[in-house]
Amino acid sequence: MERTMSDDAPRRVVVDTDTAGDDAQAILMAVLSDRLDVDGLTIVAGNVEFDYEVENAKYALDLAGAAGDVPVHEGARSPLLKDHEHADYVHGEGGLGGDLFPDTGIPSADEHAVDYILRTVREDPGEVSLLCIGPLTNVAMALQREPDLNDYVDEVWAMGGAVHAPGNVTPAAEFNFWVDPDAAKLVLRELDVTLVDWGLSLSASVIDGEAFDRFADADTPYADFVRTISEPVREFTREEQGIDGATQPDSLTVALAMAPELRESVGTYHADVDEREGLTRGHSVVDTTGVTDRPARTRVVEAADAALFEEMFAGMVEAGDPERPL
Ligand code: RIB
Ligand code: CA
Repeated sequence: MERTMSDDAPRRVVVDTDTAGDDAQAILMAVLSDRLDVDGLTIVAGNVEFDYEVENAKYALDLAGAAGDVPVHEGARSPLLKDHEHADYVHGEGGLGGDLFPDTGIPSADEHAVDYILRTVREDPGEVSLLCIGPLTNVAMALQREPDLNDYVDEVWAMGGAVHAPGNVTPAAEFNFWVDPDAAKLVLRELDVTLVDWGLSLSASVIDGEAFDRFADADTPYADFVRTISEPVREFTREEQGIDGATQPDSLTVALAMAPELRESVGTYHADVDEREGLTRGHSVVDTTGVTDRPARTRVVEAADAALFEEMFAGMVEAGDPERPL
């Protein structure tokens, strides 16, 4: 039975993020939502240099007036085992479009991200969900310390993988799973994850140029921010997909976690990741026909209401209210 957030108390979440532009917009959506209560942010190596990610996360919180309430915990500065490259070519230098380099002066929390995740879920078992919108290194490290982590978390939502779709960093792999395939493999094996993949992001999360132009008329601190940070992503999307728009995989993940109304089709399957170095590093495999006889524990969101998502995104940008259309 889908838990309908509308008739529950706000869901407590920790957002694990490799904060560049799309993550920053997802952080705005999470902290501005009445259906989510963001306990804290945990930062993981991914999109851009780690210290930029930390500052970008603080800037997003500050923009939403939440910097005093939501602690930022620094986590893994590199994947479990692999080397990786940043994605400045997508997000611009620094991760927020290339011209914005925040220096908020906001201190990070003293506690390491992994210690914070473990303490938070152990203090209130079953009460806190993880919204993972970056490589899964922090969550994997938490699992290595607490093999029973699945018993302590409420839900785990992860943006990652490319199910029945080409990758976005290699032909075989989506960026989050490519950066740390060892972590992704461990997390999918040991946790009940709800997966929002790159294929769904392409079909349900593209905010088009007309919408961005409409945001220009909005009188909120979020409108200029969103337009500024989305310029390089629109350019990348124009080159890669031939359309004027920007995919919003991380905001889609947050929106799907808080709004069952968005979920059109969800299937539960066995999912695995290729952790080997080489052509298929980070490739995600979802066994939709059960041929592997392996346990089916990963919920894959296979279809989502793209129009409703765009209205939620617009509500967040134009009114600071992602639930406006719900
Ligand atoms: O593949 C897209 C994902 O990789 C997004 O979460 C983006 O922010 C990067 O982390
Ligand atoms: Ca991300």
